[in-house]
Amino acid sequence: MKNVVLTGFMGTGKTTVGKILAKKLGCRFVDTDEEIVRAEGKSINELFELYGEGGFRDIESRVIATLSEKKNCVIATGGGAVLRKENMDNLRKKGIIILLRADIDTIAQRLTDSSSRPLANGQTREALAARLESRRVYYDNHDFAFDIHGESPMRIADKILDICKKL
Ligand code: S3P
Repeated sequence: MKNVVLTGFMGTGKTTVGKILAKKLGCRFVDTDEEIVRAEGKSINELFELYGEGGFRDIESRVIATLSEKKNCVIATGGGAVLRKENMDNLRKKGIIILLRADIDTIAQRLTDSSSRPLANGQTREALAARLESRRVYYDNHDFAFDIHGESPMRIADKILDICKKL
């Protein structure tokens, strides 16, 4: 089985959907943020404080390069992983890229309590909308996309499962 790689803005449910999907597929679930925290022994907030966004992205790229070598995994990526083409090229070698998409109102609502997300914490709806807009072209780099609005994580996982069966 190819890896199933979930991309999407913060708050689109990549981790929740990914865990359900991995269970349904009977395969391993990995989350790039979790792997980063494990590898560095520091929280995402601490890594941003210590190294800035650029330093965090370097660590993220290293972790993604390693995870991309794995097989039979569902991989949930951090919302900014799409920003480096190198990450996407690596992830695509053994995986299909699935974008989870949401409108700004859904995203803003889901990110109200974002103390563990340095790029969302304390941000206004307008600031989040601007970041989402600036990333649109990067999120376009996908094989399949699903709108999460009004759908349960279980239903999204089932839809992705249907695609996996047809591959
Ligand atoms: C980020 C998203 C976060 C995490 C970091 C940066 C982003 O992951 O990687 O805070 O730039 O969009 P989630 O999308 O899982 O929140």
